[in-house]
Amino acid sequence: MCGIVGYIGEKNAVDIVLDGLKKLEYRGYDSSGIAVVKDGQLQIRRSVGKLKNLEENIEKKHLKANISIGHTRWATHGKPSEENAHPHTDPTKSIVIVHNGIIENYAELKSGLEKEGKEFKSETDSEVIAHLIKKHYKNNLLFAVQETLKEIKGSYALGVICKDEPDKIICARQDAPLIVGIGEGENFLASDIPALLSYTRDMIFLENGDIAELTANKITITDIENNVKKREVKNIKWDCVQAEKEGYKHFMLKEIHEQPRTIEDTFRGRIYPDEGRVYLEEVKLSKEDIKNISNVYIVACGTSYHSGLVSKFLFENFAKMHTEVDIASEFRYREPILNDRILVIVISQSGETADTLAALRLAKSKGCITLAVCNIVGSSMSREADHVLYTHCGPEICVASTKAFTGQIAALYMLALDWACRKESLSKEELKKYLKELWEVPVKVGNFLKQAESVHEVAKKFAHKRDFLYLGRNVNYPVALEGALKLKEISYIHAEGYAAGEMKHGPIALIDDDMPVVAIAVKSRVYKKIISNIEEAKARGGTIILIASESDKTALDKGDNVIYVPDCDEFISPILSVIPLQLLSYYVAVMLGCDVDQPRNLAKSVTVE
Ligand code: F6R
Repeated sequence: MCGIVGYIGEKNAVDIVLDGLKKLEYRGYDSSGIAVVKDGQLQIRRSVGKLKNLEENIEKKHLKANISIGHTRWATHGKPSEENAHPHTDPTKSIVIVHNGIIENYAELKSGLEKEGKEFKSETDSEVIAHLIKKHYKNNLLFAVQETLKEIKGSYALGVICKDEPDKIICARQDAPLIVGIGEGENFLASDIPALLSYTRDMIFLENGDIAELTANKITITDIENNVKKREVKNIKWDCVQAEKEGYKHFMLKEIHEQPRTIEDTFRGRIYPDEGRVYLEEVKLSKEDIKNISNVYIVACGTSYHSGLVSKFLFENFAKMHTEVDIASEFRYREPILNDRILVIVISQSGETADTLAALRLAKSKGCITLAVCNIVGSSMSREADHVLYTHCGPEICVASTKAFTGQIAALYMLALDWACRKESLSKEELKKYLKELWEVPVKVGNFLKQAESVHEVAKKFAHKRDFLYLGRNVNYPVALEGALKLKEISYIHAEGYAAGEMKHGPIALIDDDMPVVAIAVKSRVYKKIISNIEEAKARGGTIILIASESDKTALDKGDNVIYVPDCDEFISPILSVIPLQLLSYYVAVMLGCDVDQPRNLAKSVTVE
């Protein structure tokens, strides 16, 4: 996963591909690589770390070619290393590929190829693609790619070249962006617009199922069955900065809008609703190991701590496991009772947060079983924990975390369901039902995001307020905390998240007609309870911003401003109910002229205590 660039034409492809990769550096990466065909041979260079390492490795002056594909990698399967960096080749070094996305069935494809005697050089899911293309290759690269794609399940943006057909690049797209750039006597390929803007503004956005053959003078698009497809050429007017954010004004808004895809990527290849199966390859605990766990501790900081609070409900409700959640900086300085029957789950987007890492080390020193939920492959926590469960959210650039939060809940939801099934606290039929609900979440999030403007309208009314109260109950109480945190950190407005039932024990004194109250009152077992709490706030003059379920016909009577989210099972609802709160804080911060992506005093990864 990360950046792809390709070139075919008269100029030196190496310079153009490297330049394009540099334009994608802002997305983050851990390694990079480039492949060319030169004098009938494939040449591949790969390096860990920054692109300048690759440039040195290339000895740029000596590597010239008219065809090249390059890649910056952000690890998903396999740690960052030269072996795992793209491009990947088949064992005879005649086919070479770069790939973004996730191949869901790579494990079975790989074992089939291994039985045929093929040796793999990397831990990636991508390498199987090069092997399969070679297997199908009979002097027609396009056909070999089409046949390969019939066997592959998952998401891909793919660039392929072959030493025996040095006049073409084949590329293909399914659920991962890929763009073809049109030049004169030259053509380009990229995962993102900024890579190509210095060379062309005429671009074709490939659609799912498209396979394009690029020569220097021609672009032909087909599908897997070789039917020709016509695609519109778009002229891109964006400057480079706009293009980096895909036209969104800030990375935060882009990342909020990415959530349908990042949640789906986190589920991809791991849940099978029809079969009632969860497959979490990286978590290697047996049924007996799980049954032997006496307690679960979830430890994290900030937004990750809030996803931990949601997950407590999942582990207790589904897997019937006693679960406590702790802030990492508190956990490490008290004397938690720990032993080898306790599972400590650390949650961290970066996998580097100092307090969470220290908590993990403390748990290990006490003999606990440890599991890290991380977004960054190869991060300290993912290396040090006994087990790791990755969220597949891609790089999060905005300091305020959004897509990592929903990805963490998605990941822990799968884990809780899997363990519930293995502990037999959930039947196969119930598992199927919940998996089906989960599978529908990305579409529901996407549907909600289509009406993001409605949240903007609410934000306009309240951006001038200096204090906000966020209320939630049960599984949506952590969402109230998260909504308040988002508002505080990017707009510098004072906001408090409260368990709605606690209001009458103090905070209700704060409420007057100048205090907006954001209440999450989606359909759930505590719906009536939170409605009573809302009435109490209204009676004190509070103005209510209500997050309600779409089917709640009486919501308008309860809230002065209602934002509807799609109906869903209550334990999934935090993934949906947090999205309007992310948007609300975003729009308020923009209206106040705050630096949304880089809020004052904050760092993306807090690696000091
Ligand atoms: C809030 C935010 C922080 C992080 C916290 C933990 O938007 O981004 O609260 O959630 O610093 O970071 P990770 O998850 O990297 O351990």
